[in-house]
Amino acid sequence: MIADAQRVVVFTGAGISTESGIPDFRSPGGVWSRYKPVMYQEFLSDHEARKRYWIYKREFYDNMAASKPNAAHRAVAELETLGKLWFLITQNIDGLHQDAGNSTDKIIELHGTNRWIECVSCGARSWAEDLMPRIRNEAVPQCECGGWLKPATISFGQAMPVRETNAAQQAASACDAFLVVGSSLQVHPAASMPLIAKQSGAGLAIVNLEPTPLDRIADTVWSESAGAALTAIVRELKSRMAGAN
Ligand code: APR
Repeated sequence: MIADAQRVVVFTGAGISTESGIPDFRSPGGVWSRYKPVMYQEFLSDHEARKRYWIYKREFYDNMAASKPNAAHRAVAELETLGKLWFLITQNIDGLHQDAGNSTDKIIELHGTNRWIECVSCGARSWAEDLMPRIRNEAVPQCECGGWLKPATISFGQAMPVRETNAAQQAASACDAFLVVGSSLQVHPAASMPLIAKQSGAGLAIVNLEPTPLDRIADTVWSESAGAALTAIVRELKSRMAGAN
């Protein structure tokens, strides 16, 4: 499917980063089995909610600090090198696709990024790296303006980023191959992207350890770990491309 495609879109979720040591959200032991998500409105209005929010965010930053791109991220970067990546839509906030070498202008971060911290009042943005001492030592870090600091991610109840959402929808509706890697496809509007692709005539493949609600409309479903599957896909693609030359 990928070898014959001209406009390949890869769509990733937390499952592509578990082999880098970052827990996903809905597998057994995942983030939401240990923490209750803080809704955006709670974060804005309730100090206890802000404290709870930062407790699980600090765990994420600890995992992120020690994490490196894994074989799956490297394979997605190689797809781009091979000219077989039109856009990379990710729900992930860990920045590992950038670290693996994918071009930022091809990466659409639907749920924002933990790499930046922003003030919910004045909008000032800082690198999370630069604020790490404060993130570790202050229960609820505040901006100089007095506003609350929050990673530049999209919380439940928070408006989706318009530019990224439009870009993802356009990519999904115009691609000819759509590869889902490591997502339970339960959170919308992200999870509607594979559906848009399929309805627009693209081939749809899903690589995921667990079944997803879109398996029934996929052309291919592969219940395999992302690292092994993506490495095999790139190996097969390279041999076909070599054969074709
Ligand atoms: N290889 C393949 N699949 C894997 C692997 C792996 N190594 N590890 C986990 N998975 C699968 C799990 O079986 C699960 O179905 O990846 C999926 C991850 O699903 P979720 O934990 O729900 O993560 P995701 O789909 O990215 O969640 C979407 O929900 O909480 C919000 O904003 C958050 O972006 C996130 C969104």
